[in-house]
Amino acid sequence: MEKINVQTPSGKLGVLIVGLNGAVASTFIAGTYAVRKNLSKPIGSVTQMATIRLGQRNENRFPKIKDVVPLAGLDQIVFGGWDIQDEDVYDSIVRAEVLQHRDFELLRAELMKLRPMKAVFDQNYVKRLYGTHVKTGATKWDLMEQLRKDIRDFKAANQCDRLVMIWCGSTEVFLPMGDIHMDLAKLEQAMKDNHADIAPSMIYAYAALTEKVPYINGAPNLTTDMPALLQYADKQNMPVCGKDFKTGQTMMKTVLAPMFKTRMLGLSGWFSTNILGNRDGEVLDDPGSFKTKEESKLSVIDTILQPELYPELYGDIYHKVRINYYPPRKDEKEAWDNIDIFGWMGYPMQLKVNFLCRDSILAAPICLDLVLLMDLAQRCGFKGIQHWLSFYFKSPMHEMNQHPEHDLFIQNVKMKNTLRMIINEKPIDFLDETIDLFR
Ligand SMILES: NC(=O)c1ccc[n+]([C@@H]2O[C@H](COP(=O)([O-])OP(=O)(O)OC[C@H]3O[C@@H](n4cnc5c(N)ncnc54)[C@H](O)[C@@H]3O)[C@@H](O)[C@H]2O)c1
Repeated sequence: MEKINVQTPSGKLGVLIVGLNGAVASTFIAGTYAVRKNLSKPIGSVTQMATIRLGQRNENRFPKIKDVVPLAGLDQIVFGGWDIQDEDVYDSIVRAEVLQHRDFELLRAELMKLRPMKAVFDQNYVKRLYGTHVKTGATKWDLMEQLRKDIRDFKAANQCDRLVMIWCGSTEVFLPMGDIHMDLAKLEQAMKDNHADIAPSMIYAYAALTEKVPYINGAPNLTTDMPALLQYADKQNMPVCGKDFKTGQTMMKTVLAPMFKTRMLGLSGWFSTNILGNRDGEVLDDPGSFKTKEESKLSVIDTILQPELYPELYGDIYHKVRINYYPPRKDEKEAWDNIDIFGWMGYPMQLKVNFLCRDSILAAPICLDLVLLMDLAQRCGFKGIQHWLSFYFKSPMHEMNQHPEHDLFIQNVKMKNTLRMIINEKPIDFLDETIDLFR
């Protein structure tokens, strides 16, 4: 096994958030400040709460990940970012109505200090939003240069050692991969030509990679999931990961579908519907943005169940996903799944899941883990797609000739084994007890 030399996480880590004033971003920031001040616990964060088994089972070594993996500490994080309205993050939290006042009043001073930089935004890519705090420039290339300057200025002003960028911005309209996404030179030219297939998220990602900043994609947007920007990540020696945080209904799918397959139970239909009333729900009410989300949510079941290998069990599945904007619920999304399965001799059965969740409460710890782990990745010298972070995504990025891994527990093993490798411990293959059988 190759020994990895990890740079120590000294100094400040700048976390640049696209969509700084959104529900997910503001909940992430408030929670991080609250944990830092010991006012709250980082529940849902694997990097902060989970343990990692090291060595054989009988060695009884189960330290916390954060105690053995060299991650940046929460007190080293400095937040910044961009949004399309000039509003401080305290006001955003009040508006989002995710958190109760008692949980963020004590953080008021630092939250009020956080204001977004002007965004690169174009309503053609998010139809339901209107931006007033937006950069202007002759070309998309020019806008990208302005973002690069923002990144450099932020780093200098906050004396950061390293940066990571995370997209917590809205879901853009569906953009299929086109000719200009296939090659870096073509993509660069297209930015100079103001080509319509260059969405704002691609401009942020290009600027990040140019400034040697790892890029995390929390939305289902195409962004770096194309040959051109993957070539660029490679050239810049930068890690990228995405797409679309795996939080509620899809997380359930990636737990239940492997269970059906492991037990060789058949599936004939899966109907998933949601109501949510936050701004994300409003954006997803537009058919263009919904299509991007739908593609991301639909891919999961087929990849897990492998109908090509099991045509009798999974060859004829009716899979439907619906998202309905319903303002009274705000961030408190409700998801229903009706799952039609069949067993021995083809007898049908049903499973109903009703998940009353809170979207941003589920997404915030994922943001925290991803920024810390992508910072770790850059200090390890990792570049390109970070498959080991698939655990956090609905549509994990993958090479064109490879299937993504969707099963939550396999993803968890993959992530923990990568962490073991980083700290020069042996990966765990769960064969230790089997070997005992031959003694
Ligand atoms: N909460 C979840 O469970 C979850 C799960 C998976 C993915 N996501 C994705 O995370 C993203 C954020 O979700 P949210 O609930 O915080 O939405 P939100 O609407 O509250 O926040 C999005 C923010 O992005 C800003 N924005 C949009 N385009 C921008 C641009 N070009 N530059 C800068 N800012 C821009 C908006 O003004 C808004 O403040 C969405 O894309 C959503 O689909 C959320």
